[in-house]
Amino acid sequence: MEDAGTTGHPAPGGARRSLGWATRAVHAGQRPPRPDFTPTAMPIYPSSAFVYDDSATLDAVFGNEREGYVYTRYGNPTTRAFEEAIAALEGTEDAVAFGSGMAAVYAALLLDARAGDRIVAAPDVYGASYAIFANLAPSLGIETVFADFRDLGELERTVRDVRPTLLFCETISNPLMRVVDLAAVARIAAAADARVAVDNTFATPYLVNPARFGIDSVVHSATKYLGGHGDATGGAIATSKERAGRLRELNKMIGAVLGPFESWLILRGMTTLPLRMHQHSANAARVAAWLADRPGIAHVNYPGLDDLGSVAAIFNGNERGGMISFDIAEASQDDAFRFLEALDLALPATTLGDVWSVVLYPAMSSHRALPPERRREIGIGDGLIRLSVGLEDAEDVIADLDQALTTVAMYRQAVV
Ligand SMILES: Cc1ncc(COP(=O)(O)O)c(C=O)c1O
Repeated sequence: MEDAGTTGHPAPGGARRSLGWATRAVHAGQRPPRPDFTPTAMPIYPSSAFVYDDSATLDAVFGNEREGYVYTRYGNPTTRAFEEAIAALEGTEDAVAFGSGMAAVYAALLLDARAGDRIVAAPDVYGASYAIFANLAPSLGIETVFADFRDLGELERTVRDVRPTLLFCETISNPLMRVVDLAAVARIAAAADARVAVDNTFATPYLVNPARFGIDSVVHSATKYLGGHGDATGGAIATSKERAGRLRELNKMIGAVLGPFESWLILRGMTTLPLRMHQHSANAARVAAWLADRPGIAHVNYPGLDDLGSVAAIFNGNERGGMISFDIAEASQDDAFRFLEALDLALPATTLGDVWSVVLYPAMSSHRALPPERRREIGIGDGLIRLSVGLEDAEDVIADLDQALTTVAMYRQAVV
């Protein structure tokens, strides 16, 4: 009988004794000796646990005295590669991966707020983030006060009165594309000894690096532009080494970890982030300019259309990303549905940041959790459509929007 084969860590019985067929089935080919070659692309490590030659090393890794991996919920080499890439692109000391963007938002809250604390959040954030602050936080004994982060005077007054431990907003808000002056927000927070978490999903580290302005937690849904291909769900927080250490301890307990396969997919997506963001930005700028001139469109929200004044300084360059929202003039929910159904190219899907164009009706999906009157107060009306401009030819996206808007207008004329 043959030996169990390549097992760096000794298989039961080792080479001293021939192994039974079932034993070989279990161990053969596993744990090869450490290679002396380096793969050019990061390998996927699906292993849920890792072994060492001696228990002292294992003990040191468990005790965080030595770098290494013992169990994938605590850390995994492929996930670590993704974390290092995020930290490198955001310019932070470290980053921690999460199983989704929402797990990252929740962890950002838990890191800086406890029962009895207060937080100040922007109301125009992704609907599920709004639900965390409006509904879940109070159930944990954390009070949320909402404030307009573009009105810095109001924000300063609110922070002075409320004395929050944490401020939360989005760099480019979902779905109204409002841009926040991160340097001013960081100053206001520092004066009250509060931390700031910013969701940088729409901007990505290609457009904006919030940590440059003193933001403490840079939160991402990696499901969107970072992955970029609509095939992986994940999240991350880029932050200091000390805060990342605390987040990691938190995630050891709550287990909202990113799996190695998803980590690998998103890491692979990130290698083309600059190319994709450049083209998303160029395409969206053209589509936004076209929409702004199109009869039947009441308003277009795109950070590249308006003069942002001094707030423009948060951007790394002149590009403004791929996210647009627009109001179809006097549209009802029926009109919005008809528009979504009339599109041939853009997909009516609940996501963004993919290579293909995606449209979403916030009132139905991303912001469904908000009561209708709250949605309207924030500025999310019945005719508001969110568009994530993909990497198609911009003329094709424009032609698709044009024919769908014409269909809506024709239907309206027919029923009047
Ligand atoms: C700005 C923003 N943050 C967070 C999330 C949540 O991300 P995930 O779906 O990966 O949990 C989303 C999802 O659309 C989002 O748009």
